[in-house]
Amino acid sequence: MPENRIRLSSLRDRIVPAEEAAALIGDGMIVGMSGFTRAGEAKAVPMALAARANAAHARGEPLRITLITGASLGNDLDKQMAEAHLLSRRIPFQSDPALRKAINAGEVMFVDQHLSETVEHLRTNQLGPIDVAVIEAVGITASGGIIPTTSVGNSATFAILAKKVIVEINLTQPEELEGLHDIYIPTRRPFREPIPVVTPESRVGLPFIPIDPEKIAAIVVTRKLDSASNVLPPDAETAAIAGHLMEFLKHEVKIGRLTNRLQPLQAGIGTIANAVMHGFIESPFGDLTMYSEVLQDSTFDLFDAGKLNFASGSSITLSKAKYDQVMPRITDYKSRLILRPQEISNHPEIIRRLGLIGINTALEFDLYGNVNSTHVGGTHMMNGIGGSGDFARNAYLSVFVTKSIAKGGALSSVVPMVSHVDHTEHDVDILVTEVGLADLRELAPRERARVIIANCVHPLYRDALSDYFERATARGGHTPHIIEEALAWHVRAREEGTMLPEKTRKIA
Ligand code: COA
Repeated sequence: MPENRIRLSSLRDRIVPAEEAAALIGDGMIVGMSGFTRAGEAKAVPMALAARANAAHARGEPLRITLITGASLGNDLDKQMAEAHLLSRRIPFQSDPALRKAINAGEVMFVDQHLSETVEHLRTNQLGPIDVAVIEAVGITASGGIIPTTSVGNSATFAILAKKVIVEINLTQPEELEGLHDIYIPTRRPFREPIPVVTPESRVGLPFIPIDPEKIAAIVVTRKLDSASNVLPPDAETAAIAGHLMEFLKHEVKIGRLTNRLQPLQAGIGTIANAVMHGFIESPFGDLTMYSEVLQDSTFDLFDAGKLNFASGSSITLSKAKYDQVMPRITDYKSRLILRPQEISNHPEIIRRLGLIGINTALEFDLYGNVNSTHVGGTHMMNGIGGSGDFARNAYLSVFVTKSIAKGGALSSVVPMVSHVDHTEHDVDILVTEVGLADLRELAPRERARVIIANCVHPLYRDALSDYFERATARGGHTPHIIEEALAWHVRAREEGTMLPEKTRKIA
């Protein structure tokens, strides 16, 4: 173990095996773990804890915890912990199929939360005290400060508030990551000061998490890599979505609402948002900046293409090929990157101040621009709202993208009424599918519906949606609906496996 990784020598005798550290976590505890969109999660302790839960449950002993993280975890940790029935409550985001199953079966109580808000709830004791924080680190400074790895997430507040801290020092995470992080903790209410981030480049905090070193109860040394991101490469539809957005932005520049530098960009997680960001590579825009939460492959492709000047986020989540290319050269990128706590990367005050262009993904949206990003069929959790609400509500331009159909055309992503609302019509400016783009700004609901039907709906569903709207309009109302029919498409999908009306199925 290189001494440089634990500079406070008095802590060196706290190195223990993962199983011993995991034994500090008991039944019923509230545990905060590092990790944000498969980056920088503590790895060895949750794995040891899942194994202990399996053994405890086999003996008939209880071991269930409330687990709070930054966002989703890699290395199948959410899967292992869910399958070990370790999780009674999970906050604030996940994206794992096994955990999703346990959530939808009602076994795990999942609190789907705006990512900027979790630590505010912790500070004001709305969740109870954090018993143990488990934080992955590059190392520990001479003052006992924790240097995070590829994500900051909620790690700083977890470590500051927890009774005990377990640090996992990951020797595969390059020491050169030190200096990348900017740890700023807002002052307490009612005396909170403005957060002094005024550009994406603003550095306002410390490069490590400051805690009392006496709270570090155990140190575990690991060598497990972050998982590679699982986004798929761009395809014809995502390229078309990107193309529509680029045309729209070019027009905004032409009429003088934006300059060629645009505004700082935020892009959500997943395949579609990553692909849309790739669209900026071939665009006429330049000197771009990002003020986002997850920095995906596209961020580094934009750096390498000379399009992007600076990126601020809360994690770096890369594919295997991109990770192998970026990590050995991290010092080349470091002066153009900042990783912040997620309450700062997603803070409404800063998002509004900087005037972001926020690009997030919908599962479905409706005639009037309400967006569902989380619930399939109105009931089954996909991943969670993540940071999309933080950005959508406060961005200068709130863009939602999705393919116009899913499951080979059996589902339309544009529906009469969304089956669950994450983002209300008031928070949505622009909708884009591969079919086209709807600019909803300053439009009343009836106008919105016409623009959406004309520009975003797949041809398979256009007539049916238009028919619904015309019949609803005949009934009247500011936001016309045929209320007994508004969710009929979802009912049909549940009962018949497709939203397509019977008479059009043959054509499909
Ligand atoms: N109804 C049901 N399922 C749908 C759907 C719809 N209207 N539209 C898409 N899907 C399914 C897809 O079929 C796919 O399913 P599969 O995994 O079984 O193949 C899945 O949703 C993911 O869709 P995909 O097209 O691959 O998009 P993506 O990887 O970009 O993910 C979200 C899309 C919405 C699931 C994802 O962006 C998300 O979880 N967003 C919420 C959190 C968020 O926005 N955070 C942003 C700040 S970081």
